[in-house]
Amino acid sequence: MKDLIHQAADILAHAHRLVVLTGAGISKESGIPTFREAQQGLWAQQDPQRLATMQGFLANPTLVWDWYQFRLRLVEQAQPNPGHRAIAELEQRLPHVEVITQNVDGLHVQAGSRRVLELHGNIRRFKCLRGHGGLTMADLAGQEATPPLCPHPGCQALVRPGVVWFGENLDYRILNQAVADSEACDVMLIVGTSGVVQPAASLPYRAWNARARIIEVNPQPSELTDLAHVYLAGPAGVVLPQVLAVMSEQ
Ligand code: APR
Repeated sequence: MKDLIHQAADILAHAHRLVVLTGAGISKESGIPTFREAQQGLWAQQDPQRLATMQGFLANPTLVWDWYQFRLRLVEQAQPNPGHRAIAELEQRLPHVEVITQNVDGLHVQAGSRRVLELHGNIRRFKCLRGHGGLTMADLAGQEATPPLCPHPGCQALVRPGVVWFGENLDYRILNQAVADSEACDVMLIVGTSGVVQPAASLPYRAWNARARIIEVNPQPSELTDLAHVYLAGPAGVVLPQVLAVMSEQ
């Protein structure tokens, strides 16, 4: 492992344009469960079709709203971990770093990363079914109804979490930027994703096709491990600080 950490540190130290692609695994050490890990993942215990689709929301809005409020409380209690902070530190050390995350917890920004693309939205933001976006819990305060109704004058449509559900399109501006950055990077660092959800899982292939060097950090091999030039089998909060420590020695 020591040699692999040195290889990863050497690749990162020479990166001109680094893209960091992250998934739920990087927030696991902050106390936020992942989705697909056996038994402990959220989808091991819950039906994503009932909780993370528009059909599920329309069939039972209160069930879905309450579940996202449960997840929001977990996020509000969570702090960035050494993995998030190591990525923010890379942005200080390297000429150009972009974080592309599938996570809706906002912990990368909280850790100090400034260039962050949130592919799947953010759990602290809300929108109504008529498209009034950018709502916060403060805008919805004082309402008994669950889910609350849109506060825009004359609207009163149901409010839903500002995240991307299965079967929904991503914001095309964010996706286009993520595709462009993945095709322009010379190094991609993949952290804590199973690599099964599209279109996020296609981004490493775009980097690979553009001859980028690919490093993956994950305790378990993922659908993307075959693409990795260096695979670091361990938790992000432990491995990433080790890589930065070696970068400091070099
Ligand atoms: N450090 C790094 N990786 C970890 C850690 C850790 N401490 N702990 C677990 N992992 C890895 C797991 O081995 C797994 O490969 O994180 C990955 C989490 O995979 P998923 O649960 O599938 O999460 P993710 O890939 O982010 O899911 C993608 O699916 O459910 C939707 O919209 C949701 O954004 C999510 C998307």
